[in-house]
Amino acid sequence: MADRIQGLHHITLCTGTAQGDANFFVKILGMNLVKRTLLYDGKEPVYHLYFSDATGSPGNLTTCFPWRRTGRKARAGSGQITLTSYTVPVDSLEFWTEHLTKKGVNILEHYERFGQKVLKMEHPDCPALHFELIEDASDTRLPFKSKYVPEKYALRGFHSWTVTARDLEDMHFFLNEGWDHKKTGTDGAFTRYEVAGGGPARIIDLLHRPDLAPGNWSYGEGMVHHGAFGVPNLEVQGQVKFDVEGLGFTDCSDVKHRGYFQSVYVRTPAGALFEATHSLGFTVDEPAETLGQAFIISPQFESQKEDLLRQLNDPIDL
Ligand SMILES: [Fe+2]
Repeated sequence: MADRIQGLHHITLCTGTAQGDANFFVKILGMNLVKRTLLYDGKEPVYHLYFSDATGSPGNLTTCFPWRRTGRKARAGSGQITLTSYTVPVDSLEFWTEHLTKKGVNILEHYERFGQKVLKMEHPDCPALHFELIEDASDTRLPFKSKYVPEKYALRGFHSWTVTARDLEDMHFFLNEGWDHKKTGTDGAFTRYEVAGGGPARIIDLLHRPDLAPGNWSYGEGMVHHGAFGVPNLEVQGQVKFDVEGLGFTDCSDVKHRGYFQSVYVRTPAGALFEATHSLGFTVDEPAETLGQAFIISPQFESQKEDLLRQLNDPIDL
């Protein structure tokens, strides 16, 4: 079971607009746009934007489908990933409180969870999506050098994701038996699971909300569509799929080629969609020096590139 699930890889959000995402993730949180492409599924052209560090490191990769243009909205609820959390250095929340307030970000709460200081906020262009900044001294990852945020306060990548669940028992079974995570503690309504030695980007918290009606699974503005976990290679990915199906979780997809990853999706018993992903890297179709600058068309729309750019009509100013 060891060395299969390596930790958090990327999270995929359905947001409002491309510019709203660029403003929040690049100009306010200090991330780097490493890829601009399109959703690989379906006939509806929707941007797919990837925000990360300099190279698009696993564990620090927030991807967005700006969904507002379609008019479809999500319904928040249980059975979804409801918090996306990033680590920041100890003693930096004072800076972040001032910085976010100045930029018009709505800060919802300050609190402590599992003994760490947390700031919770809304996406300014898509308030249904909630994020946390968590002070964690153990995170030694190097930050992206952004012109928008001083390096000493910069985000290091994911701390954890929180899945809101009506029932904990089946999700415990899935995480423990199928996804290599071990329970490491509880704090109020939160139960913590960690994988591959634990620590930042290796944490899933379950938030127990037995009375909260389920949110939707379809794409729509204002929901986390899925969370992806790294696996070291395709052989291990196949083994994870085989074992998860063997436990009875047969809502498991075939391997899908996503250009920059190969992905297998599984619907967890809490309702949240998880992915086991094998990274192919972001330099497969553009050089490292200019990552994220060009619009890369996804294969199903290759012949319609110019038309699509006109249709999307959602330019991104960085
Ligand atoms: Fe994904």
